[in-house]
Amino acid sequence: MPPRIEQPTDDAIEKAAAVLHSGGVVAFPTETVYGLGADTVSVEALRRVYELKGRPADNPLIVHVRDAAMAQRVVASWPDACTELAAQFWPGPLTLVLPRAVDVPAEVTAGHRTVAVRCPDHPVALHLLSAFGGAISAPSANRSGHVSPTDAEHVARDFHDADLVILDGGPCAFGIESTVLDMTTTPPRILRPGSISAEQLRAVLGEVQTPAIEAQGASPGTSAAHYAPRTAAVLVERAELRSCLESLAEPAAVLCFDPNVVPQQHKAIVMPTDADRYAAELYRALRRADALAVSQIVIEEPVDDIGLWSAIIDRLRRATSH
Ligand code: TXA
Ligand code: MG
Repeated sequence: MPPRIEQPTDDAIEKAAAVLHSGGVVAFPTETVYGLGADTVSVEALRRVYELKGRPADNPLIVHVRDAAMAQRVVASWPDACTELAAQFWPGPLTLVLPRAVDVPAEVTAGHRTVAVRCPDHPVALHLLSAFGGAISAPSANRSGHVSPTDAEHVARDFHDADLVILDGGPCAFGIESTVLDMTTTPPRILRPGSISAEQLRAVLGEVQTPAIEAQGASPGTSAAHYAPRTAAVLVERAELRSCLESLAEPAAVLCFDPNVVPQQHKAIVMPTDADRYAAELYRALRRADALAVSQIVIEEPVDDIGLWSAIIDRLRRATSH
């Protein structure tokens, strides 16, 4: 049975909540990317999420909550700093890693003693959380290792043979996954950069560690090559772009800022110069590039690397690391 994309009416959301209550899996929109949700306390449903995604059992899930009060039910401790972070950034693209409460199933945390929680800033996700009345564990709604989905169609394509309801919230506004912040270390440490920047977190927390990608093994799912298109992809500096493209024998898809530097035999996908719009477009562009069935994807490296650009460059490095 193919997946069903549904408009997020009150009725459809109530039905999706009922699917969660019965131990089923539902795909839903968030402000970052779509999630594949399961009842956080249903071991059977959690296993189904891993199975559907083909996700390695050692990669834990993010628990989505309605608010800070619901978050406190899945953690064993909630430092005062988290109250401040939640007040400032929730609902929003910030995931907090904290010691887990004893009754959170090992399937959620992949056996780790910590649990990741976030409150998504999307009306459909919040409505679903309210209708369900409990926490929803959800990884990004893509097959493991593939590019995250930023609209309902992407989810349907990745799970084309699954009996799955997908609530359609339109294109995701942010387009890259949440910032994952480990609150169990002193100082707190960013495990995955996202739209909430280290600078913003420092304004609340003081010191924040920002390990390089290679040193981010602490977050099981942040391995390099985790966010990759199917086609081999390379990241090229602007100054080298034209000569690189001229040297390629086969047609390539090129994510670039200026299509004029792209020779005729290649296919240019023009990217926004504004970081917010670039992030929102990135995964759609990588999926488009994949669909062109070219032998290579060439990505022009953005020049800026502060704020949101650093999270974008993080994903570009991962997408091109294989
Ligand atoms: O924006 C997002 O975070 C999206 C939407 C759906 O909320 N979700 C998402 O989930 O990106 P996923 O499963 O694709 O990525 C979750 C990340 C992984 O890198 C995982 O390793 C990390 O969070 N994570 C989860 N629990 C963790 C834990 N206890 N300790 C360290 N990292 C954890
Ligand atoms: Mg993911």
